[in-house]
Amino acid sequence: ENTQQKELIDLHEQSVKLYHHILTNTKMGQPALDYLHKRGVSDETITTYQLGYAPAQRLLKPFFDERKVDFQLLRKSGLFSEDQDGNLRDRFVDRVMYPIRNGTGQTIAFSGRLLTTDSDMPKYLNSPETDIFNKRKVLFNLDLALSNIRTGEPAILFEGYMDVITAFQAGVKSGIASMGTSLTEQQIYDIKRITHEVVISYDGDTPGQKAIKRAIDSFNEQKSHLVMKIISIPDGMDPDEFIRKKGAEDFKQLIDHAQAPIEFELNYLKKQYNLDSEVDQSSYIAEALKLISRVDSSISRDLYLNRLADEFSVAKQLLQQQLAPLIKQSA
Ligand code: GTP
Ligand code: MN
Ligand code: MN
Ligand code: MN
Ligand code: MN
Repeated sequence: ENTQQKELIDLHEQSVKLYHHILTNTKMGQPALDYLHKRGVSDETITTYQLGYAPAQRLLKPFFDERKVDFQLLRKSGLFSEDQDGNLRDRFVDRVMYPIRNGTGQTIAFSGRLLTTDSDMPKYLNSPETDIFNKRKVLFNLDLALSNIRTGEPAILFEGYMDVITAFQAGVKSGIASMGTSLTEQQIYDIKRITHEVVISYDGDTPGQKAIKRAIDSFNEQKSHLVMKIISIPDGMDPDEFIRKKGAEDFKQLIDHAQAPIEFELNYLKKQYNLDSEVDQSSYIAEALKLISRVDSSISRDLYLNRLADEFSVAKQLLQQQLAPLIKQSA
């Protein structure tokens, strides 16, 4: 960490305080505070996560100018956008502010959310890449989750910041999230370094289900002894909505009953086929056998083979014959 990085982090820490003050102590911040309260975010959680509000009026630029902060430093901070004449303006305007911290708890970026989604602007706006922020490396909430993961709680992987925050408020304190992108190699590497068990808890909607499949594949690409489990949130809800509607206990039940990846993958695969058609049935069986061949335990493989044989009334021996060469290939 060099001097400039320290200075950039310092600018972010000051901005956190300012945005938080605007949210919690000013009239300007009232609509944003009401928005968070309506979403069920408690004042304690607002303090824990140092949530804030970037008002419609310019805030950071006059604040840092008054303190004679170097223009080039401000330029590199990502907190401003630059107009054609090279003037800096606050990047975040009229947004609820979520500080993004690194693993050691330093704020290195922000994500800002619109209070309503009826405009053309993106719902979430993230800081751009800077000297201190690489979104491919960050796991949101890792600093707070780490001590709970170290005491043996599985890491819970979410899609969104609000899922992490709502879960934390409900007592599930080992949640982390990537920055709205697919999981990167670096993030997977970091997760594997800190835990032996990860529970993937993405949204119950179609993009969420696709993302689960991608995440399973990515984890599988990096061989290790990590135990992966999958939560399926019902009715297209995301974890935040589920916890608010059904409560913490029901969510903990989902965690306790999380599925093995193969269960999720077989279900997901099944949805791609019309199983009334015999052509589709045999394609499904062929693809299902590929998935089953990757299961490590031979007993588990046998169980899934039995299930497949029963489901389509085909001879188990036939399935075994097809499975055997696939297992040799992947071993
Ligand atoms: P809420 O609407 O506040 O509950 O957010 P969400 O987390 O449920 O959002 P959603 O499921 O739509 O998207 C999942 C994640 O994708 C978010 O948490 C963000 O990290 C990211 N994301 C969503 N919309 C945008 C966007 O407009 N821009 C960017 N950069 N990221 C987004
Ligand atoms: Mn209120
Ligand atoms: Mn979603
Ligand atoms: Mn969501
Ligand atoms: Mn949501």
